[in-house]
Amino acid sequence: MTKKIAKFAIHARKFDEARAEFSRRAVLKGLALGAVAAVVPVFGTQSVFAAEARGGKVLILYFSHSGNTRRLAGMIHERVGGDMVELKTVKPYPEDYDAVVDAAKQEQQAGARPEIATELSNLGDYDTVFIGYPNWWGTLPMPFFTLLERYDLSGKTVIPFCTHEGSRFGRSETDLKKLCPKARFLEGFEVRGSRVGSAGEDVAEWINGLGLSKSR
Ligand SMILES: Cc1cc2nc3c(=O)[nH]c(=O)nc-3n(C[C@H](O)[C@H](O)[C@H](O)COP(=O)(O)O)c2cc1C
Repeated sequence: MTKKIAKFAIHARKFDEARAEFSRRAVLKGLALGAVAAVVPVFGTQSVFAAEARGGKVLILYFSHSGNTRRLAGMIHERVGGDMVELKTVKPYPEDYDAVVDAAKQEQQAGARPEIATELSNLGDYDTVFIGYPNWWGTLPMPFFTLLERYDLSGKTVIPFCTHEGSRFGRSETDLKKLCPKARFLEGFEVRGSRVGSAGEDVAEWINGLGLSKSR
């Protein structure tokens, strides 16, 4: 899977723009992965929400196609504890990179809501929900649209985390806020998928900043 990731690099025209574009051609032919990545985790000020979140049960809900986001979810879980749930679709995405890139683009253009196999039967138990995903064409993979239109996260604390190859969160946080308009958002964390393995310290600092580290 690392090999698959190493096959491409991403050109995002302006990383800071919410609508940074994902160019498939650049993925296949573009920038070397060794290029300096500006991986800047965002640290928010402590909020009353963080204080509230500390006391409650935590769910780490994530989608991952090639494993980067799954790995990041595991790193968060090590520090925060709680339960982990992987969002799965009924019809799995193709493993082939070009094929999944095309499928995801078509889904997004069609505004598709792919059928999901994941059920959140005990969502009421959780106060804090980490939501993790790869940036797919500038936002969340469409299965999250299916999920979050089905399950109501009103009143919960939501913390996004994202892996990508240059576009950072893209417009995903804006989309997430639209999908969960009555949730309370804390600062999220983003990292290049190819650098998840060396993100441990940044993850720790982010989690500590949120006040969510479990007592060890
Ligand atoms: C369908 C698809 C679309 C993608 N779109 C983007 C994008 O718009 N911007 C970006 O920086 N990376 C993009 N990527 C790269 C992934 O976000 C990145 O490799 C991520 O770490 C993959 O996570 P995963 O291993 O958990 O699936 C895309 C990858 C795929 C497969």
